[in-house]
Amino acid sequence: MNEPFSGIDVTTLLQIDSSARFGRSGHDRHGSHTRRMTDHFVRHWLARAPQTEVLVRDVAATPPRPVDDRWIEAAFTPADHRTAEMAAILRESDQLVDELERADLIVVGAPMYNFGVPSPLKAWIDNVVRVGRTFGFDRGRPGAPYWPLLAPGKKLIVLSARGDGGYGAGGPLEAANLVDASIRVPLAYVGVTDFRSIAAEWDEFADARVRESLKSAEADIEGLVTQLAPSRPRVDPQLILAQAIHADP
Ligand SMILES: Cc1cc2nc3c(=O)[nH]c(=O)nc-3n(C[C@H](O)[C@H](O)[C@H](O)COP(=O)(O)O)c2cc1C
Repeated sequence: MNEPFSGIDVTTLLQIDSSARFGRSGHDRHGSHTRRMTDHFVRHWLARAPQTEVLVRDVAATPPRPVDDRWIEAAFTPADHRTAEMAAILRESDQLVDELERADLIVVGAPMYNFGVPSPLKAWIDNVVRVGRTFGFDRGRPGAPYWPLLAPGKKLIVLSARGDGGYGAGGPLEAANLVDASIRVPLAYVGVTDFRSIAAEWDEFADARVRESLKSAEADIEGLVTQLAPSRPRVDPQLILAQAIHADP
């Protein structure tokens, strides 16, 4: 599901990479397409909005701690009742949530592994979708017992790659694409409701189709950047008006 985005003010862009292949395709031997795509996005973004702060979180290089019983106990203990050990268990999750809170735009490189996302990316999601930090929960609340705690207005862009073809909207494998929904749904739950995805396909076949698909994905990325990023530093319209009024005839 791709909703149209309108122009946005982005101070901080969070780039998340999760491919187990560390190079970039077209640049490094056996390199990753999703790393190539996130790099393509960020390069084009910075060309138009060089003042943007970019945070890079490589979950393949540094996989977040998977959620376990001690994590759950710590997360569900109110912050003012946590032991020092519980606070330590949540420190990495706190840092990942801090990055997400700081970001206006989140760009996720998400390869398809067995129809879903790589496990370190799932671990990242489990660490940032956290009761009391990114969503509220109250059984006694009228209506829905859950509510998002992240500031509104953040945008999520998923840049995906898959070995086969036909996982896109209307394609024969659409129902098997668990990648987009497994990122979109939990992040919408914590308040990131604006979502776009772009994918490259046919990697396993290593023929003209993958080259065409990458070309088309990169063109889509450039189009999205053009749509979203300011092309030059924003100028106050009042200032332009004042300058026009005061200009010599
Ligand atoms: C462990 C693993 C599982 C994969 N599972 C699928 C799959 O279910 N469907 C598919 O189309 N491609 C699958 N692929 C192919 C990848 O999606 C494809 O190689 C993609 O380009 C990987 O992203 P990357 O280039 O950023 O590393 C799989 C690859 C690996 C390594």
